Amino acid sequence: MKKYFLIGTIIAGGLLVGCGAGNNNPGYSYMPDMAYSVAYETYAPTDALQKAGVSSYNGLPVEGTVAQDDDLGFVYPYKNDSLGYALSKNVKNPLDTVANVDLKEAERLYEINCGICHGSKLDGNGPLFNNGNGPYSAAPKNFKDKDVIALADGTMYHSITYGIRAMGSYASQLKPIQRWEIIKYIRSKQGKTTTTTTASDSTAAK
Ligand code: HEC
Repeated sequence: MKKYFLIGTIIAGGLLVGCGAGNNNPGYSYMPDMAYSVAYETYAPTDALQKAGVSSYNGLPVEGTVAQDDDLGFVYPYKNDSLGYALSKNVKNPLDTVANVDLKEAERLYEINCGICHGSKLDGNGPLFNNGNGPYSAAPKNFKDKDVIALADGTMYHSITYGIRAMGSYASQLKPIQRWEIIKYIRSKQGKTTTTTTASDSTAAK
């Protein structure tokens, strides 16, 4: 009898000690590197990565990389700085050499990504701006304005890729080919099909 009591006490004691680590503590882990993944979470920038200047997965695509399903294979050569903006006018729309640009698809992409600010009529007065009464206070460009008609395709591409002042970047939402398609769509509505050189553009297009 005494022997059973002793064994019982040892088991109960063992259980109590084993559970004593508290609710929020898992206790000892035998193989921590298997229990806890060292992989990065998709949208969680880690301090260490940020300090090293490496963006998390939701940053801009790595420079020089091409989306795998983008048969255009286009790589924009300029950086997001004032020199890059100035040189952007040299870049031609690669779709200029493509006979049938899908303008219906381009219109769909425009309506989803741009129309909300720039307006379905391209007049810079989409529902978000709404003559200054909408939630977005910065006036989007009116694509029918002379200065926007005069913008080179490459400069539009630069601004869509990196954003400009109050407008954000669309690099992670739109593949290069989709950005060029939208530019084609805007041109078609401006009453022009190709605008690779402009009046203010005499030094460009070498
Ligand atoms: C949230 C509102 C908003 C959305 C959405 C938006 N834009 Fe803009 N966009 C602006 C504003 C505001 C400006 C004026 C920026 C400035 O000059 O200060 C602008 C300017 C521009 C310019 C002129 C750039 C330049 O170099 O002067 C182009 C081109 C343009 N947008 C194209 C687009 C396209 C294409 C899309 C869709 C992919 C788009 N925008 C989506 C707000 C927006």
